[in-house]
Amino acid sequence: MKTALLMILLGLCLADDEISNKRFPDEFMFGVSTSAYQIEGAWNEDDKSESIWDHMVHTNPDFIADRTNGDVACDSYHKFDEDLAILKETGVNHYRFSLSWTRILPTGYPDNINVAAVKYYKNVINKLKENGIEPVVTIYHWDLPQNFQDLQGFVNDSISDWFAEYARVCFSMFGDDVKYWITINEPQQVCTGGYGYGYFPPTIKSEALLEYQCVHNLLKAHAKAWHIYDDEFRSKQNGKVAITLDTSAYLPASDSDEDKEAAERIQQFTIGIYANPIFNGDWPEVVKTRVAQRSIAEGRSQSRLIEFTQEEIDFIKGTHDFFGLNVYTGYLVESLGYDPPVSEPPSKWQDQAVNTYQPSTWETTSTQYTKVVPWSVRSLLNWIKNHYDSPKIMITENGYPSSGNDKDDRRIYYIKGYLSNIRDAMEQDGVDVFGYTVWSIMDNFEWASGYTQKFGLYEVDFNSENRTRRARGSASFYKKVIETRCLVDNCI
Ligand SMILES: *[C@@H]1O[C@H](CO)[C@@H](O)[C@H](O)[C@H]1NC(C)=O
Ligand SMILES: *[C@@H]1O[C@H](CO)[C@@H](O)[C@H](O)[C@H]1NC(C)=O
Repeated sequence: MKTALLMILLGLCLADDEISNKRFPDEFMFGVSTSAYQIEGAWNEDDKSESIWDHMVHTNPDFIADRTNGDVACDSYHKFDEDLAILKETGVNHYRFSLSWTRILPTGYPDNINVAAVKYYKNVINKLKENGIEPVVTIYHWDLPQNFQDLQGFVNDSISDWFAEYARVCFSMFGDDVKYWITINEPQQVCTGGYGYGYFPPTIKSEALLEYQCVHNLLKAHAKAWHIYDDEFRSKQNGKVAITLDTSAYLPASDSDEDKEAAERIQQFTIGIYANPIFNGDWPEVVKTRVAQRSIAEGRSQSRLIEFTQEEIDFIKGTHDFFGLNVYTGYLVESLGYDPPVSEPPSKWQDQAVNTYQPSTWETTSTQYTKVVPWSVRSLLNWIKNHYDSPKIMITENGYPSSGNDKDDRRIYYIKGYLSNIRDAMEQDGVDVFGYTVWSIMDNFEWASGYTQKFGLYEVDFNSENRTRRARGSASFYKKVIETRCLVDNCI
């Protein structure tokens, strides 16, 4: 830790002799990830209906940095064979992609299952399997049917039933061929992005109020889907079902107890608020206590963080077959040294009561907040191991945004650094990581950033009708890692 802290403060880079020379286990899964709205296009083909992202890009084009949209994106609805070709070329063990709710169920409800959509996804799954690539399937990656948003989306109690019924359709249509399911991708982006700060659709700004109501409903939605699998499908299909949580790694800015407590607190507010109910039962104590106390001080009759009933606690606890983790960067955290006074409306920052920052010496990427902090992932993995009883972890996303330089050396440096620290966490700390997934196999529609942020191992030419895919340097780097299971030339 001391050395790590020193390296962080000095902003030192990893030299090659600091890269792990330990071979990854044969069964370790190396993969890549995408999501439906970001790659498929064909937004209204074959009866597909409108999602909250279709609605946003069509009604408010200025919401997207370059005024583009996902109407065509990588055109993967028509070009899956080209996706398959680059997946094969890279030699991945698994491919994580998502199903489009509005494609499979145009009304949102299971009253009308869209045959063309089922055919499309069955073909994707079958071709992956024929080529020895394990499908890892996300059921919900942010593209809620707009008609459910018109009924308040994730802050309507009914969301857990809407989602659970959709999940049942997915298990029953595809589950015979899918061994790894992700229920919901990055709930923090759904609730904090959608209902807290409002930087994603439905762009509702209600920090620490509707935001927490969303968290409460979303956890019940996830748990219902997990129980449906467990009760109705597991014995025949034998798969694993998990939620994928996203967080940055939060490291104390100093060795002081106050900064360590502050780092613990924000980690609980970002990942613990989802993981604790699922892995340990109920909200994390520090989150529950702080929000309750502050809510009373604000003159409310109950906590803004709705208490779970014992029945709900028992229903949500244990709804995991592994831990899905998306992580891109890290922050230093310091204590404020005081508790911020209450205000109306309340703020998330006051509830968390910490300062976070990224030293200017840390290497930047093309997005302001995604700095390159490979060593921080090892702390985060240890934090997860210690808080949730050593779960099996699949890193379901990790990747580097660029403006697209051909040499691509910084993306290689990033992936190598993260993988090295993951390997050290496995070898030296006994963290049980069984898979790693690069976001993304190819450039795609990066939400509010449009096509300005390029995460692909493959470049996509969005100006050509063919959406031609072309390998970047990192594609051959990753191919070699997968082939050799090794980050350096001479592994042991
Ligand atoms: C929530 O959804 C139900 C349908 O399941 C609907 O009847 C109700 O009006 C919705 N509530 C709100 C506030 O829109
Ligand atoms: C697009 O693909 C078609 C079919 O493979 C090919 O004939 C055509 O030349 C391509 N166009 C461009 C601009 O690459």
